[in-house]
Amino acid sequence: MKINNNYDNLVPNYLFAEVAKRTNEFISKNPEKKVIKLGIGDVTLPLAPVVVEAMKQGAEELGSKETFKGYPDYEGYEFLRQAISDYYKSFGVTVAADEIFVSDGAKSDCGNIGDIFGTDNTVLVTDPVYPVYVDSNIMAGREIVYADSTEKNGFAAMPPKDTEADIIYLCSPNNPTGSAYTYNELEAWIEYALENDAIILYDAAYEAFITEEVPRSIFAVEGARKCAIEFCSLSKTAGFTGTRCGYTVIPKELERDGHNLNKLWYRRQATKFNGVSWPVQRGAAAVFSEEGQKQIKENIAYYQENARIISSAMDELGIYYTGGKNSPYIWLKCPDGMDSWEFFDYLLENANVVGTPGEGFGSNGAGYFRLTSFGDRGNTIEAVERIKKLLSKK
Ligand code: MLT
Repeated sequence: MKINNNYDNLVPNYLFAEVAKRTNEFISKNPEKKVIKLGIGDVTLPLAPVVVEAMKQGAEELGSKETFKGYPDYEGYEFLRQAISDYYKSFGVTVAADEIFVSDGAKSDCGNIGDIFGTDNTVLVTDPVYPVYVDSNIMAGREIVYADSTEKNGFAAMPPKDTEADIIYLCSPNNPTGSAYTYNELEAWIEYALENDAIILYDAAYEAFITEEVPRSIFAVEGARKCAIEFCSLSKTAGFTGTRCGYTVIPKELERDGHNLNKLWYRRQATKFNGVSWPVQRGAAAVFSEEGQKQIKENIAYYQENARIISSAMDELGIYYTGGKNSPYIWLKCPDGMDSWEFFDYLLENANVVGTPGEGFGSNGAGYFRLTSFGDRGNTIEAVERIKKLLSKK
């Protein structure tokens, strides 16, 4: 018997598991310290009232013979896919309901989508990168190549000149760097994908945080329907990190190697996934209602204000950073040339604040650090005060 020995090529711990492990060790040694966690991007505000109400009704419906539901449709209920299609329309993008697949989140789909692609494809990721794209492709044994995001390009990598790829992961607004691609930049990526006959796997999980004139979806850009699949999620948009619901968009005409990708994904999902529960799909549909949009935007505005508070502290301290504008993440340069894990320990020990070491997102993250704005307001203000006090002494 053999296990998949590609797992031997992974770093020992998933990044956020490693951050949690180190944080818990510190807390157990220092139980009297109030540790503030601005590490993993996990939401802290409750679900919107209109969502909770819809979920309650969904649960009630499951309790009555007339309205009971068993297995959901593999691709998600029509009412939810239509609501998502209408949502796209609200910012000028046409995506049909039968191009949408409801899922338990973007993280799972970004990893699972590899099932429909051969393992001999080359995968291009930007570096720094959300570790799921890398780890899931290491597990599958694919070759991975990198496009550099650095201070020079504002931590928004562009297509590399002499590198070919079959699968390209892009995330905009970017996790972890917070940068967001412009229309022209996405056009360049689409051109590169079409030249390589590649597929772009576009993670739009943070689109709801966009405040500037940048695309909310890759399908807002000409040519994307010929080369892109988009993932989105209600985790950060509507506080569903624990509830779990997301969606993946695959244009009906998208084909590679003589296969229709929309059909292949349906085949994969029907085999390996039994869909999202009825109360959660009811709650998800409420997110896209008029009242739902109003309520979730209040929560997003709260996190955006946290991002502003963190960013202005960085401005005061004269620290280089990206993000915070179209994104809930602030990606900053560690002071005094500290490396990422050194700064992680320094901040934890001296300010009792947890962030995420940039190095965990790739080699270009070395010397950088990520703070999230998903914290509680009071804690965010306190963390920022502690950081300012600590770093202005240096
Ligand atoms: C993050 O902190 O990068 C995210 O919360 C992780 C995720 O969405 O899986």
